[in-house]
Amino acid sequence: MTGTAALQVAEAAARVLVDRLGARPDAAVVLGTGLGAAADGLGDVVAELDLSELPGFVPYGAPGHRCACRIVALGPITVLVLLGRAHLYEGRTPAEVAHAVRVAVLAGSQTVVFTNAAGAVHPQLAVGDIVLIADHLDLTGGPGALAGLVGSVPAPFVEMTGAWSSRLRRAARTTRHTTPEGVYAQMRGPQFETPAEIRMLRTLGADLVGMSTVVEAVAARHLGAELAGLSVVTNLAAGLANTPVPVEEITDVAAGTAPDVRSLIQAVLTPELPAPHPT
Ligand code: HPA
Repeated sequence: MTGTAALQVAEAAARVLVDRLGARPDAAVVLGTGLGAAADGLGDVVAELDLSELPGFVPYGAPGHRCACRIVALGPITVLVLLGRAHLYEGRTPAEVAHAVRVAVLAGSQTVVFTNAAGAVHPQLAVGDIVLIADHLDLTGGPGALAGLVGSVPAPFVEMTGAWSSRLRRAARTTRHTTPEGVYAQMRGPQFETPAEIRMLRTLGADLVGMSTVVEAVAARHLGAELAGLSVVTNLAAGLANTPVPVEEITDVAAGTAPDVRSLIQAVLTPELPAPHPT
């Protein structure tokens, strides 16, 4: 399913979602690898839903990702938390990868906060850093989620300058965390990069590399959402450390940052509330 058919199914799923949850989200959060715990304590849990019951969802479930969502009351706003995501490396199409975020936006979310685990390409980034995405490189090398939408509304020729909201980045900086900014490059995966590919990415201007986010971000932007992105540096990218990419440590490193990721999400979504206490 691509193009307008994919949008129509997302609209149908959004209607079911709002109906089942009894609430229209103001914002959505997408939780990346190892970051499930960032959902705990984000706000008051109102409801949880298995997304595979909704139109258009091909169940996904890479390690650390649930095909489910939760509605959370965070101060004055209602937040739809996606407890995992679909990836191209699972063999999903870009439309399938973008589906949950499309549903979230069509259900009402005007802001989407993406989170992910990433390798550091910039030499000054360290494991455990949380980086605000300021821009991205789409290196997935195939048709994206907007393919097949020529002639439909909204038009697919989306302005991507300023896609990552500077307003939301400013809001994140009101927390106690030092949050550098960077350019995130999405590769298809699932194989990690070669050291030569990482040198190429650095030359191209990437600070971070991962296997998610950009396809979804383009789809969310197409539907008019304001975007924020938090990348957790789980490892130095290939060739930058003396050891191979520590694949088995990625989830644990990300999980260790979940409390900080949670308070950054809260700051982005509710800048008017007092900054949360360190956890
Ligand atoms: N490369 C690609 N994806 C990743 C990495 C990496 O080094 N770390 C976490 N996700």
